[in-house]
Amino acid sequence: MVVVVVMPPRYEWQRALVTSIRMARNWANSGLDLHLRLDPRRKVHSLERALRAAIDDGTLAAGTRLPASRALAADLGIARNSVVEVYERLLAEGRLEARVGSGTWVRELALPSRPAPARVDRSTRFELDLRGGLPDASAFPRSAWLAAMRQALAEASNAALAYGPPEGVAPLRLALAEYLGRARGVRAHADDVVVTHGFGELLGLVARAIAARGRRRIAVEAYGHASHREVFAAAGLEPVPLAVDSEGADVSRLHGLGAEAVLLTPAHQFPTGVPLSSRRRALLAEWADSTGGLVIEDDYDGEFRFDGRSIGAFQSLAPDSTVYGGTASKALSPAVGIGWGVLPPRLRDEVLAQRRRSGSATDALTQSALAVLIASGGYDRSVRTLRGRYRARRERFEQLLAVGAPDTRVLGLVAGIHCLLELPEGVREAEVVEAGAERGLRFDGLAAYATDGETASSRPPTMVVGFGAPPDLRFEQAVAAVIAAIDAAR
Ligand SMILES: Cc1ncc(COP(=O)(O)O)c(C=O)c1O
Repeated sequence: MVVVVVMPPRYEWQRALVTSIRMARNWANSGLDLHLRLDPRRKVHSLERALRAAIDDGTLAAGTRLPASRALAADLGIARNSVVEVYERLLAEGRLEARVGSGTWVRELALPSRPAPARVDRSTRFELDLRGGLPDASAFPRSAWLAAMRQALAEASNAALAYGPPEGVAPLRLALAEYLGRARGVRAHADDVVVTHGFGELLGLVARAIAARGRRRIAVEAYGHASHREVFAAAGLEPVPLAVDSEGADVSRLHGLGAEAVLLTPAHQFPTGVPLSSRRRALLAEWADSTGGLVIEDDYDGEFRFDGRSIGAFQSLAPDSTVYGGTASKALSPAVGIGWGVLPPRLRDEVLAQRRRSGSATDALTQSALAVLIASGGYDRSVRTLRGRYRARRERFEQLLAVGAPDTRVLGLVAGIHCLLELPEGVREAEVVEAGAERGLRFDGLAAYATDGETASSRPPTMVVGFGAPPDLRFEQAVAAVIAAIDAAR
């Protein structure tokens, strides 16, 4: 047992002695620290009060073993008897229990302890989460990930356990450069790759790098994630919408907008589901070339095209003007917390400077594990497995809707893990959202992704349906709930 006495600030010296007592948990006998604030003039009295309070509010959990009275007394500089008396009073109150030969413990299920925090987890209300873009957590390749983690740890040098470089660990940047070139046609050298905490962090870094150059306007697709627009606004940039139609974002309007950069989802517009047409890709490359404009390509689900007509990343058309961004959140899980960027030379230093300033870093062991997974082919295998699963779901979704709600229309590329569902005449998005919530369903109408009211009212009422998240067993139940919600809103 260890007792550490920490000197409190001078002005508090008369009032408090902060003491850290090491306790033991019965199930593991592991050391637990408990910090107690004691009055140096009335140590015994304040020890009793502090222990009682810690037990009552749950800070000192049931089933924790207290230090032996002799050791605690020696560390606090008080008589052993005084500690024994404190323990006895708490024993008499039922807060502690004595176990023959094994010391004094906080009583199991003794007194009412601190109430459990109110559950804010939406899953209590929303059992089926169909928000656009969530992957199937039950498909996470647990054994492959565990093996990759094990190998990464076994092979990590001591130096690899220190603070890593802000751009990410070298093996992962190498593996990503190879993978992205092979799977997405991205032109990347390992030196151009930066590893971030998901695509979200990459976007924040790039936004701040743009703002640091005194640029202000950034074009965004008229439909997209509100959180991405918030990232820009937080960096001091002004998002300006570009209309989205059947060819993707109307990039022909970029010339007149006065924007320095544009954020796009060329492979699979989020959430409307169309690819950027080849005509518009060419226009976009021409805009970047002639104005020095920057393209931020969000390739969030580029690997998940099911019809064999995968379109490569836009980046290869204008590598010097494009920040290519991707994520492991779809092929693995958002819990892995890794995204990446391929940076054009002109932005590289400023983005890395922003990263250093942000004080954040992606954990090096997880990065090394992902490098192992990619190099072993495990990442590709996960993508292939998921592709098959999501393709089957997309087909089943269309079949079930054709029977259960034949007056709806499923829209969007046969790709990714979400699609659009155009509602029958007269049915409103808000009512379907509400009827869905009553059935434990969480999803949004297309208007929730619109940048402005004009965009929101420009299309017939439509739901964005993510078909990735429910596990296989509950998939049909989820689709039945969608149909029931539409029926209830008719
Ligand atoms: C359009 C879009 N971009 C990017 C992402 C990935 O974000 P992150 O890597 O931060 O999880 C998502 C995830 O849902 C998405 O829907």
